[in-house]
Amino acid sequence: VSSSGGNVTGKFGHPYGYGFLHEDINNSGDGGIYAELIQNRAFQYSANYSVSTDHYYPINDVELSIEFLDELLSAALPASMRVTVGDDSTGDVGFENEGYWGIDVKQQLYTGSFWVKGSYDGVFTASLQSNLTDEVFGSVEIESQAVADEWTEHAFELTPDTDAPNSNNTFAITFDAAGADGALDFNLISLFPPTYKGRKNGLRIDIAEALAGMNPHFLRFPGGNMLEGLRNDSFWDWKDSLGPLRERPGFQGVWGYQQTHGLGLMEYLEWAEDMGLEIILAVWAGLSLNGDVTAQEDLQPFIDDALNEIEFVVGSTDSTWGAYRASLGHPEPFELNYVEIGNEDWLAGFPGGWDSYREYRFPLFHDAIKAAYPDIQIVASSASSDPSPETAAELGLDFPEDTIGDYHPYREPDELVEEFDRFDNDIGHIIGEVAAVHPNGGSKWNGTLVPYPWWIGAVGEAVSLIGYERNSDRIPGTFYAPVLKNENRYQWSITLIQFAADPLMTTRAVTWYCWSLFAHHPISETVPTTSTSDYGPLYWGAGKDDARGGAMVWKGAVFNTTNSSSVPVSVHFEGVASGTRANLTVLTNPSGDPWAFNDPFVPLADRNIVQTTSIELVASGNGSFTFELPELSVAVLDTDPA
Ligand code: AHR
Repeated sequence: VSSSGGNVTGKFGHPYGYGFLHEDINNSGDGGIYAELIQNRAFQYSANYSVSTDHYYPINDVELSIEFLDELLSAALPASMRVTVGDDSTGDVGFENEGYWGIDVKQQLYTGSFWVKGSYDGVFTASLQSNLTDEVFGSVEIESQAVADEWTEHAFELTPDTDAPNSNNTFAITFDAAGADGALDFNLISLFPPTYKGRKNGLRIDIAEALAGMNPHFLRFPGGNMLEGLRNDSFWDWKDSLGPLRERPGFQGVWGYQQTHGLGLMEYLEWAEDMGLEIILAVWAGLSLNGDVTAQEDLQPFIDDALNEIEFVVGSTDSTWGAYRASLGHPEPFELNYVEIGNEDWLAGFPGGWDSYREYRFPLFHDAIKAAYPDIQIVASSASSDPSPETAAELGLDFPEDTIGDYHPYREPDELVEEFDRFDNDIGHIIGEVAAVHPNGGSKWNGTLVPYPWWIGAVGEAVSLIGYERNSDRIPGTFYAPVLKNENRYQWSITLIQFAADPLMTTRAVTWYCWSLFAHHPISETVPTTSTSDYGPLYWGAGKDDARGGAMVWKGAVFNTTNSSSVPVSVHFEGVASGTRANLTVLTNPSGDPWAFNDPFVPLADRNIVQTTSIELVASGNGSFTFELPELSVAVLDTDPA
């Protein structure tokens, strides 16, 4: 085979990027990477999720109830929790919160706050304790500022004296029954552990580090389905996600639970900044998951809203929204090169209004954004294969010039291997969501997803990744989705990383190792290739990386399901002389079980089934590197010794 090359990757001077989509699915935001430890901290609710005292438990003789007081904490947070003290109650009373299925307690600094209304003369005690025994790991006393007619905030810091042996712990606030006038009202009860890069209202360190460890380049947000919302009156409105937490009303999530809005637009931008990620910002385009479509005559406010959102991200401090960003602590504009219009809106159109994307929604958003920000690359939330080329011809549909598409292959491993040449003769796309999710030959979406990314799925995915990357002059990057999963409540089992309250559960799936290997060996340019054999079972591509002194990089994967032979490989890089050294890294699954996966419930020491072998090779007399790759393996050969 031969392939053309010499294509410079990354339109904006960045190398080809690996990354991920983040939306709040699987409690990946609240109870996930967003480090807040208190579940139901502000009694938020929406049409689909009713207000409750869920996740709180009374301590001693009190009753907990939801109130809508005349004096609200804020219009955004109208509900609060009343703690009514029993008539004969004495001593410490209050409530505890179970966190997001537990709380990790370490000897480290926790930062917390809560708002109280009601007259109380005394001290509050905030503490972290075991849910199984009476053990209190740490507590702090907070002098009451509480008064009858106003909400007052109480902030505190708490460092436990000792680590808890497990995450089955709760957070409690107690007060002296005698000092309170029958009842106290509480709202916005918040507790944070140390966060990634020390950000206030920031990210959970172990999960953020697992993501950063993959060496990602891109963050696409806020969805995915989450962007769209369940109905047109409940999409993810970026404005609701900004400013003090008491001004954030919460979001009616699309994955079966109420969300806090704590991980808001600013937090996403800071996340990208702290990990050095390039963002793809998706703007709401007037269509929701139930098929609600905003009519053309009603669309302008939403186009203006998208322009305002972009201004918030990149506007100077002289602009309205840039000034607001500055007031939130970030005067410097963020970098924004890609804006996606909607999510999975398919230019082909579907009955019931989706065809409005082609007819007016996409053109109106596109033209308005391009007029204001000509350098931004617009991404259409559809691929050139949606519709099929035949249907596109029937519709007289050309993919818009100056636009790239977004392709979402959730597939069987065999199908991902077939993806290898999918983009050889196509326009630009991001691969905005990709994963092996179904077993080969199964019933696809009528069947279930596999419980965890599994080895043959990971190798199939790796083949498709090479296929995308070798077209990197038109494909800026590939995104895993969905990326995180809380083992206690999830809607989508296949994710790159799994976790629970206990950081020991945080697990890099087998796919993480393949994505990480490829992401750690970036290329800035593809190179033309020739080969004496066809693709399959070995699939491969090659490039060089100018940022690393022109290092030559070869990426390969062996996907053989019908025999177990290893494949002899000889790689010759033009211009690389005999005696040159290169590093070969090979990922394999020694168990030989194609269904093997990294199980978060297995002890950490035995959890990772992916074997990484790294050896140094020396180019032979004719400048070739010679090696063998075993069945179902993924490999990178790189002449950069680093
Ligand atoms: O990644 C899960 C979902 O799959 C996304 O929200 C949506 O864009 C896609 O259909």
